[in-house]
Amino acid sequence: MDDAKPPEEHEWNRSQGKGGKHHGAYAPRPGDEHEQGSSDEGSEATLLEDKYSPQELALLKCLEHEKEYVEHLKLNDGQGKSPQTKNRTQISIDEQDQFSPDNWLPRSSDLIRLTGKHPLNAEPRLTRLFDAGLITPNELHYVRNHGAVPRLLWEFHELEVEYSGRKRTLSMSELKRNYPTINIPVALACDGNRRKELNMIKKSKGFNWGPGGVSCAYWKGPLLRDVLISAGIPPKLPARGGARYWVNFEGADDLSEGKYATCIPFEYAMAPTNDVMLAYEMNDVPLPPDHGYPVRLIIPGYVGGRCVKWLQKIWISDKENSSYYHIWDNRVLPAFVTEKDGEFAETLFHHPSTSCNEQNLNSVIVKPAQGEAIPLSKARKGYSYRIAGYAYDGGGHEVQRVEVSLDGGHTWLYCIRKFPDFPIRHDKKFWSWVHWHVDVELSHLLRADSIAVRCFNVFKNTQPENPNWNIMGMMNNCWYVVRPEIVYSGDSEVPCIRFRHPTEPGTGDGGWMQPSEENKIEQAKQEAGTPQKQFTREEIEKHDKENDCWIVVDGKVYDATSTLDWHPGGKAAILGHAGKVHQTTTDEFASIHDGYAYQKLKGMLGPGCECLNELLTLSSQSAFWAQ
Ligand code: MTE
Repeated sequence: MDDAKPPEEHEWNRSQGKGGKHHGAYAPRPGDEHEQGSSDEGSEATLLEDKYSPQELALLKCLEHEKEYVEHLKLNDGQGKSPQTKNRTQISIDEQDQFSPDNWLPRSSDLIRLTGKHPLNAEPRLTRLFDAGLITPNELHYVRNHGAVPRLLWEFHELEVEYSGRKRTLSMSELKRNYPTINIPVALACDGNRRKELNMIKKSKGFNWGPGGVSCAYWKGPLLRDVLISAGIPPKLPARGGARYWVNFEGADDLSEGKYATCIPFEYAMAPTNDVMLAYEMNDVPLPPDHGYPVRLIIPGYVGGRCVKWLQKIWISDKENSSYYHIWDNRVLPAFVTEKDGEFAETLFHHPSTSCNEQNLNSVIVKPAQGEAIPLSKARKGYSYRIAGYAYDGGGHEVQRVEVSLDGGHTWLYCIRKFPDFPIRHDKKFWSWVHWHVDVELSHLLRADSIAVRCFNVFKNTQPENPNWNIMGMMNNCWYVVRPEIVYSGDSEVPCIRFRHPTEPGTGDGGWMQPSEENKIEQAKQEAGTPQKQFTREEIEKHDKENDCWIVVDGKVYDATSTLDWHPGGKAAILGHAGKVHQTTTDEFASIHDGYAYQKLKGMLGPGCECLNELLTLSSQSAFWAQ
C-alpha cells in the first residue's frame, strides 16, 4: 500500500500551474533568498521553503505578522496623551499674511496655500504629512478657512446653547471645569480632498485640493451630549408624529454669505459611542487659531466640513439647517447638474440625500513621491522598494484591506496596514486613518505600467476605478494612480524612472493629468477678448485700495472695486492682489474659479453695466514682466 500523503488542494493546484501562486513582484525579505535549504531538513521552515518562493515566504511572514498585530490592536479609553510632541509653541507670523486680516496669528510656512494668500486654505506636502507619522503635528494639519480667522479670547468667549426658547451660556472655563473629557485620535479630511483630479476633467465650484486635505490629530474636550444634557436638553426628544430633530452649530467667523452654520441629526449627536465632542485641545495644546480656537466641534467619522470651528452657538431644530453653507456646500450632486443656479440645482442642493456627512473610503499613494526618480541601473536583483501611503474610511469603519496594482488593475498586491496606537473606540470604531506599505522588487516597480491603490472597508466595498465628477468636486475617491516615465536626469547618461502623481496641489502643474479638451476650450475662451485700452505698471499700481481696486488677470486689467462686497472668498482675497502686476493673480484666479466666474469678471464690462468695470490691456508685455 502506498502511504504517501495525497497532496492538499493548494499543493495540487500549484503543481498543475493553477491558482495558488502569488505575485512575483513582492520583494523577498533581505537575506531570505540565501537561507534556502539552510534550515534543518524536515523542519517546518524547510518544508515551506520547498513549497514557496522567497517572495511568497516574505508575503506569508508579513501576513502572519499583520494578523497578529491587528488581533492585538488596543482599545482607546479616551484618557491617553497624544504621542505627537512636535507642536512648536512658537511659530512666527508668516510674511504672506502681512497685509491680510489674519496678520495677527502665527502660522507655519510649511503648508502649500491653495487659494492665494487669503483666506488660508492649505495642505502639507504629501511626503511631509506621511513622514510626520500617524498623528499629524498641529503645524502640518491641513487648514480650510472660508474667511478670516475670528480673533477670540479664551477668557471672553461664550458658547450659547439654546433649547425650547431658553438660552444658556457657557464660558470656556466652565466648559473645561465641569465636564469629563475624552482625548482621542481622529482623522479629519475635507470632502474636497483630491478635488484637483476632478477639476482637470471639468472645473468644479471648488479650488484645487491635492491629496493632502487630510490629517489625524488627538482632539480633547467634553462630549457634546454631556453639554447638551446639562443645558436641559433631554437625551431623547419626544418623537411626536415621527418628528426628527437636528443639532445646529454656528461659528464666529463673519463670511460673505453669513455665518458658517450646519447641523447633524440629534440622535447621532447624543449617542455616546459616536464621540461627538467640543474640542478645546489639539495634540494636548490649546487649539491653534486656524483650527478653531478656543473651541470647535469634532464629529469623528464625518467630513471636516461639519466640524464647525470657533463654535459660538448650538441649538436644536425640527428642520435641517437652512444657512448658506449648509445648503450650498459639502454636497455631492449628480453629474448632470453643472451649475449652481436653475431649478435642478435649487432642488438638489436642498435635497437631504446630497449632503455629505459620513466620510467616504479613500486611499492615496505617497511613495513613490511626485517627481521622485530612480536610476534604472538600480533595477538589479536584490533591490527592493517600499510603496507606501495612507487610507481612511468614514463612520468609524476599519479600512480592512489595501491593495496596489502594478499592471493597471489586472493583479493586486496585498499591503500591510499600520494604525495609530490605541486606535479602537467602543469595541469596533476606528476614527483614525491607516498608513500602509508593500515591499516590491525594484525591477518590477520600474517595469510597472502604473501604480494604483484601492482599499476595502468592513462592507467589503471598494473604491471606484474612475472619478465621478460632480459640481462641488466633492468626495473624489477613485483609484489613486501614479505613473512612471523614463527621463534622463541632469548630465547623467543613466536613464531614470520618474514618477508622477495625478496632480500637484494648487497651481502646481507637474502631475500626469492634463486639462481635458473641454477645460482647454474654456481657457481659450477666457483668454480671448478685445483689448480696448492700455495701461502701464505705474498706472495700475495706483489702484490698490478698497475704494479703488484693480486686478490683473491674464494680462487684462479689471476694476474689482464693486466685487469686494459680495466676493464669496471675502474682500481680503482680492485686496491682496489690488494694484499688483504679477503672474500670481492669474495663477490663483485660475486655480480657484470656474468658467462662470471668468464670465462674471468679463460680464461686468460695458456701457450701462451697473458696476462699470473696464477691460483694458497692458501697454506691452515688457511692462507686464518688468521688475
Ligand atoms: N468652521 C467654520 N466656522 N468656518 C469654516 O470655514 N471650515 C470647515 C470646517 N469648519 C470651516 C469650519 C471645513 S470645510 C473643514 S474641511 C474643516 O473645518 C477644516 O478644519 P481644519 O481647518 O481644522 O483642518
